[in-house]
Amino acid sequence: MRTPFVVGNWKLHKNIAESLALVTDLKNQLAAVKGVQVGVAPVFTALHSVAKRLEGTHIATCAQDAYWEATGAYTGEVSAPLIADAGAAWAIVGHSERRQFFGDTSDHVGKKACSVLRAGLGAIVCIGEHLAERDAGRTLAVIDEQLAEAIADVAATKVDLASKLVIAYEPVWAIGTGRTATPAQAQEVHAHIRRRLAEKLGPPIAEAVRIQYGGSVKPSNAEALIAEPDIDGALVGGASLDAADFIAIVKAARTST
Ligand code: PGA
Repeated sequence: MRTPFVVGNWKLHKNIAESLALVTDLKNQLAAVKGVQVGVAPVFTALHSVAKRLEGTHIATCAQDAYWEATGAYTGEVSAPLIADAGAAWAIVGHSERRQFFGDTSDHVGKKACSVLRAGLGAIVCIGEHLAERDAGRTLAVIDEQLAEAIADVAATKVDLASKLVIAYEPVWAIGTGRTATPAQAQEVHAHIRRRLAEKLGPPIAEAVRIQYGGSVKPSNAEALIAEPDIDGALVGGASLDAADFIAIVKAARTST
C-alpha cells in the first residue's frame, strides 16, 4: 500500500546541459511506468531547468540540501522556500556527506527537515551508521539518536507527514563503496525505524511513511532489497547518473510491489 519511491541523488555531478539530457531520457523512458514514484536531485544550479523540463511528468525534482532559515545574511546557503520557488517538490536533508564534510549535525537535520516541510516540500531525511558503529553493535542505537533529533519537531509543522516525510536508511559503509547491506540487514533496520516512527508519530503515519534504502543500489541488487516488507524504494547515488541503470532500478522497484 506504500508506493515505492526511487530518487537519484546526483551529488556534485552534471552541469545544466548534462542534467537536461538525462532527465529528457528518463522522462521519455519512464512515461509509461506506473506503480512507483520517481525523483531526481540535481545540483542547485540545474534545479530550475530540470524542474521546468519535468513539468507535467510524474518525475519529481529534489534538492540535495536546504538551509533552515528562509532569508537573511547566510552567504552561500539556499533555503527551502527558494527551492520550492525553483520548482522542486522535495529536498534531501542529513545526507552522510553533509554530515561528514560540512558539519551537519542531527540537530541541524531536524531544523532543515522542519523548514522543508513548512515550505510545502517533501523531506527525505537520511540516517545511517558508520562501519565502526556497526562493528561495535551500535547500529540501532545510532539510528535511534539520529532519528530522534531529525524528526523531533516535524509533527509541529502540521503537514501531512504520511505523504511528505520519507526516511532514507543509508549505512555510511555502503555509500559509494560497492558494498551493499544485505536485504536482511537493511530490513532489520527499516523495521526498527518503522517501530520508532510508530512510537513518535503514531502507527498510522508510521505505516504510511516510505523508508528508502541507500548505499550502492544497482540494477542487480535493487529488486531483492525493495522486495523486503519495510523497504519502500531507494536513494541511488552512482547508478542514478546512468539512464539505463536508473531506469532498471525504477522498474525493479515497481515489479517488487
Ligand atoms: P551510492 O550513493 O548509490 O553511490 O552508494 C547513495 C547515496 O549517497 O545516496
